[in-house]
Amino acid sequence: MAQSLPQDISDVELVNLAKTAMKRAHCPYSKFPVGAALLTESGETILGCNVENASYGGTICAERSAVVSAVSQGHTKFRAISVVTELKEPAAPCGLCRQFLVEFGNFKVILGSAGNNKLQVTSSHNLLPFAFTPDSLDTFEQEKSSDVTDNSNERATVHS
Ligand code: THU
Repeated sequence: MAQSLPQDISDVELVNLAKTAMKRAHCPYSKFPVGAALLTESGETILGCNVENASYGGTICAERSAVVSAVSQGHTKFRAISVVTELKEPAAPCGLCRQFLVEFGNFKVILGSAGNNKLQVTSSHNLLPFAFTPDSLDTFEQEKSSDVTDNSNERATVHS
């Protein structure tokens, strides 16, 4: 469930929520707990943790778990996400999670280390330069509709 919190939640507070989520991780195989806390545009915070599966490929990372939960609760606009592991240095999200985050635009990403209480602040766009985004699909639609006479993409036909 989303919790309503003041909109001016600090980076440290968001990281602390991610630490709470990290304690709920289901990671019996890797034993590598990860927690995430999303701050929605309207000020709610939504938590996620990694949930592993005996069929290893069924595992979902903490970041995607938070996003799936947020979207399921009707939130698609985010101001920030914090991600925490037990490492001594802040760890970066995996590639699949970066793609998942950038789907929802550019927002703050706060990486925290529960080991040393260090923070590193970046953004979803910084994490994935040259991203394939919904804009790419919009551009394709626009190009198709504004270029109805362009048949350069058609295969050459052989006339006998
Ligand atoms: N993991 C995450 O939750 N987020 C990431 O960005 C990287 C990896 C999880 C997946 C798996 O449960 C464990 O960490 C080890 O890969």
